[in-house]
Amino acid sequence: MAQTRLVVNGKPHEVDVAPEVPLLWVLRDTLGLTGTKYGCGMGLCGACTVHLDGEAVRSCQTPAGSVGAKRITTIEGLSADLSHPVQKAWIAEQVPQCGYCQSGQIMQAASLLAKNPHPSREEIDREMTGNICRCATYNRIRRAILRAAQESV
Ligand code: FES
Ligand code: FES
Repeated sequence: MAQTRLVVNGKPHEVDVAPEVPLLWVLRDTLGLTGTKYGCGMGLCGACTVHLDGEAVRSCQTPAGSVGAKRITTIEGLSADLSHPVQKAWIAEQVPQCGYCQSGQIMQAASLLAKNPHPSREEIDREMTGNICRCATYNRIRRAILRAAQESV
């Protein structure tokens, strides 16, 4: 074990985990932030997506020791009150079905809009292609991203 410093949702933490432990497990098991989901554990589904300095990453493929001083944002930290434009659009479009993939979808979408505030449908599909939804909510996801882009003008 080793002390690893992480800044999660604006708060500093010291966690006693080996540096190779995936960030996903530190978030869920050590810090109790269970909004980030485990899907495949292989970087193939996107359920575990969080932000490192605003960039979407797969936390199942990110060793805790590799994060350093980068700011980690999880679904719990995207906004304090569901006021992020992507969260508002998700609610308006009633995107989720079972919900399991949705925090990863939202984090991926939020990082897309941060770097490209008005993406085309093609750009949305390209960005979101690695986030799998077994309930096939893809059309609503696309609509919600277009809505969030319009409403955050
Ligand atoms: S659990 Fe990380 S990509 Fe599937
Ligand atoms: S809403 Fe069920 S897996 Fe996406």
